[in-house]
Formats: sequence, C-alpha cells, structure tokens
Amino acid sequence: MLLHLPQVLTFDELQHMQATLAQAPWGDGKVTAGTQSAQVKNNEQLPQQHPITQALQEVVLQALKRNKLFFTATLPKAVFPPLFNRYGGESNSFGNHVDNAIRFIHGSGERVRTDVSATLFLADPDDYEGGELVIEDTFGSKRVKLPAGDMVIYPSSSVHRVEPVTLGARVACFFWIESMVRSDEQRRLLYDLDMTLLKMRNEAGDNAHTIALTSTYHNLLRMWADT
Ligand code: NI
Repeated sequence: MLLHLPQVLTFDELQHMQATLAQAPWGDGKVTAGTQSAQVKNNEQLPQQHPITQALQEVVLQALKRNKLFFTATLPKAVFPPLFNRYGGESNSFGNHVDNAIRFIHGSGERVRTDVSATLFLADPDDYEGGELVIEDTFGSKRVKLPAGDMVIYPSSSVHRVEPVTLGARVACFFWIESMVRSDEQRRLLYDLDMTLLKMRNEAGDNAHTIALTSTYHNLLRMWADT
C-alpha cells in the first residue's frame, strides 16, 4: 500500500528542521547503501552519529508518535532511526534499487526488518526541479513529490528511485518500519477495516454492528500480529 500522510510535521518543527539542515555537515550517501544500491546511489546524507542527526531524529520520532494515521497504516513494531538526505548539484539522483531487507541499528546491533519505507519531504517542491520518488508497482509506476512536512509510505519490497534533481536541492528524511504485521496484504486489510470503522463511528456512533466489526479487527490483529 502506498499512502500519503499530510502534515506530519508542524509548521514550527518544519522551520526548525529546514534551518538546521541548511547548515548541516552533509557527507556521502553511499555509507548506508547495500552492494547493488551503492552502484546507483549518488546523493548526500547526514552522518548517523552526528548530534544534529540525533536531535532531528527525535523531532521526527515524536511527530510519528502523535500521528494516528501512521500507526494505523504501519502498525509499527520498530522504527529505524530516521536518516536525512539531500539531492542537488553533482549528487543528484538514486537509480532503481530495492531497500535492504534487514538494517542494523548503529551501535546497538539491533536488527530491523524493513517492511515499510518512509520518505518525509522537507524541501518545498517549488524550490527544486526533478527529484520525484518513483515507486514501481504492479499497477504501474507512481511518481511522488509532496509538500514539505508531508510523508509517503510504501512497501519496502518495491523497486524505487529518485529522479535527478536538475535545479535547487531536495532535502528529505527517510527511514524504515518493521511492522507487527509482516504481510503488506494483511496490513492493508486491517487498514481498510480500521478506516471504514472510523467513518461509520463518525457518522452514526457505535452500535452493535460497529462493535462486532471492531471485535473482528482485533481478532484479525491478534491472529496476524507479532509483537
Ligand atoms: Ni531506497
């Protein structure tokens, strides 16, 4: 499932993040790439252990915690510490690749299985040209370029790329989620059921039918979730 999550960051968070990233110590993006992706990756990244990275990670993680749509759509078990990248100038693209299935958290050695990939856009789309995230799907390819502060999530199993940035700079935050529900198909069913229940409740409040369907939701989650 590919989903657009609007306004994940508040206006103040976004301003703070943009100002900080404008003066951040960018380095080569290949440091976190796998063997295949390193051949097509040409961008810049913030060093994982830098205090600026760690401070900004905290802002993103707090924003995710209060985002109900993020929880419903991903059913997170673990979130990989968010990373930050920049495309522009000579380092302006990332060709077709698939994200590594398992990521190791720097320092702790903890493993995160990448079920869902996330890109949180941090630059105003009017400030750069190109830089679309293109996700290849069985339905065809989707081109994603969102307002600053908005996020897209998509299955980590998808082949994807970032188109060359031909003017300005595309700055974004990216990370992976290990879901309590490993299967994208099962997660999608739970999401659809949960969102439909939400609409039913908003329209008419709870009744015997919404209670029965809520019970089905939780029983499916109990059957499929691994906590
Ligand atoms: Ni990727």
